[in-house]
Amino acid sequence: MATTKVLILYFSRGGATQRLADSIAEGVTQANGEPLLRTIESDQDAASSRDLAITKADIDSCDALILGSPTRFGHMASGLQKFWESTSNEWLKGTLINKPGAVFTSTSSLHGGQESTLLSLALPLLHHGMFLTGIPYSQPSLHGDQAGGSPYGASHLQQSQTLSDNEQKSAQALGRRVCQLACVCRDSDIDS
Ligand SMILES: Cc1cc2nc3c(=O)[nH]c(=O)nc-3n(C[C@H](O)[C@H](O)[C@H](O)COP(=O)(O)O)c2cc1C
Repeated sequence: MATTKVLILYFSRGGATQRLADSIAEGVTQANGEPLLRTIESDQDAASSRDLAITKADIDSCDALILGSPTRFGHMASGLQKFWESTSNEWLKGTLINKPGAVFTSTSSLHGGQESTLLSLALPLLHHGMFLTGIPYSQPSLHGDQAGGSPYGASHLQQSQTLSDNEQKSAQALGRRVCQLACVCRDSDIDS
């Protein structure tokens, strides 16, 4: 059986969102999938310039896509929005229809807009016909954390150079969940 490819598309200036992307990638690997960390074109100072810039071929060949951004005034970073505005052809072709999707973000303040950013990230995925999933409350790490972690997606409150234990576990759980869903969706005959 072909390996399940989970595209993790993100931008990170300072590295906080990248830490989440890396934990999500660990979760994908735990579920025996192949995480593909990709970013958008930006300057070399951005932490995410560590990873390759996304191509349209990546979108065509992925089985799932997880999208992440630092919170910028309650919204996704403009470079990611710009990227989605270049995907009309993929939308017309239905490249992402029936593939699972999920979202993640990082903020510097507790009430700085994690949920609004997660919802803004979800919108292009829904327009592209993806099956959006969050993190169910059966995930123990979602309970009782004083930092990130949300049913809407993985998140991180940037207080230090590391994720909290619960943030890391929730991010890994999201990666596993999307990868497992991608296996199911790929082998299903769902109308589109
Ligand atoms: C232009 C700009 C706008 C921001 N807006 C918010 C915001 O609305 N709420 C918040 O909590 N943090 C905000 N931040 C802080 C970043 O979201 C936060 O530091 C994040 O963890 C950075 O992620 P990164 O290290 O992956 O770049 C903003 C930062 C910048 C540069």
